[in-house]
Amino acid sequence: MSKKRVLSGIQPSGKLHIGNLVGALQNWVKIQDDYECYYFIADWHALTSQYSDTSCLKEYVTDVLVNCLAAGLDPEKATIFQQSRLLEHAELHLLLSMITPLGWLERVPSYKEKQLEVKDKDLNTYGFLGYPLLQSADIMMYRAHYVPVGVDQVPHLEITREIARRFNNFYGEVFPEPDALLTQFPKVPGVDGRKMSKTYNNCIYLSDSQKEVEQKIRTMTTDPQRIKRTDKGDPELSPVFQLHKVFSSKEEQKDVAEGCRTAGIGCIDCKKVLIKNLLIILEPIWERRNNLLHNPDQLEAIIEAGSEKAAEAASETMEMVRQAMKLKG
Ligand code: TRP
Repeated sequence: MSKKRVLSGIQPSGKLHIGNLVGALQNWVKIQDDYECYYFIADWHALTSQYSDTSCLKEYVTDVLVNCLAAGLDPEKATIFQQSRLLEHAELHLLLSMITPLGWLERVPSYKEKQLEVKDKDLNTYGFLGYPLLQSADIMMYRAHYVPVGVDQVPHLEITREIARRFNNFYGEVFPEPDALLTQFPKVPGVDGRKMSKTYNNCIYLSDSQKEVEQKIRTMTTDPQRIKRTDKGDPELSPVFQLHKVFSSKEEQKDVAEGCRTAGIGCIDCKKVLIKNLLIILEPIWERRNNLLHNPDQLEAIIEAGSEKAAEAASETMEMVRQAMKLKG
């Protein structure tokens, strides 16, 4: 039996951090044997909000690619490609725009939310409104059955299903209705306890050096009421403990929590355990990152081959679409 198709993308809107690793990349790696996987760098999506300054775009695209590979994606198993190399995505986006009622796009929660949240950019643009539709085109292009994403992306999947249904109603059955493959992952807080995000400047990047990681953990705040080494603390009030919940074993979590409550250990001891565990995960990634970054030709060859492979699937779908819409005989 042939494997079901999976598609997912990641925006190169900044350098990837350990939240992206735990939230997306590790899951992508885990399922690459079980499905026919297409994973891509959504560089056009990054442009929907970061259109005025594209000076870092290339660097971020490379960062995503390198981290995908360093995290363990195998280009022999999964097809890894770059959105902007597949003009078919733009064609499908355009054709779908003809059948998409404006209200559907205006109703997507991220549309209003992000406009309110982001103050330093004008997101009152055609491209930004079309963000979810471009995502629908990405998914429908591969006639994907499953889309591994976090809960924040569920509304984007819902609109994709609605658009697929509408297309099929007008022109005949071409697209399956994709389902989210919800990734259950722990929330990874930033070093200040808030959500890890580059806007808060609280990220641990996959490209950070060992020194930077150690420095970021060492200077983290802990339970604000635990001032002296002899004060007893509450681990639940410490962002360090929140990171332990993601990166340390149950045993270690129990030990550091106990040590914190009884003042049996100091915050430095607690952080040392966390640093050790982060390094266990990051060291092999750094090693592969370094190798890859020294081989730009190899990187280009991987993304080029992946994009060519994706193009085969994409041109097949576009032929079906053009025929269904009577653009072609
Ligand atoms: N919107 C997704 C995000 O911000 C990125 C994305 C673009 C995507 N196209 C996609 C995810 C298609 C899944 C499928 O994370």
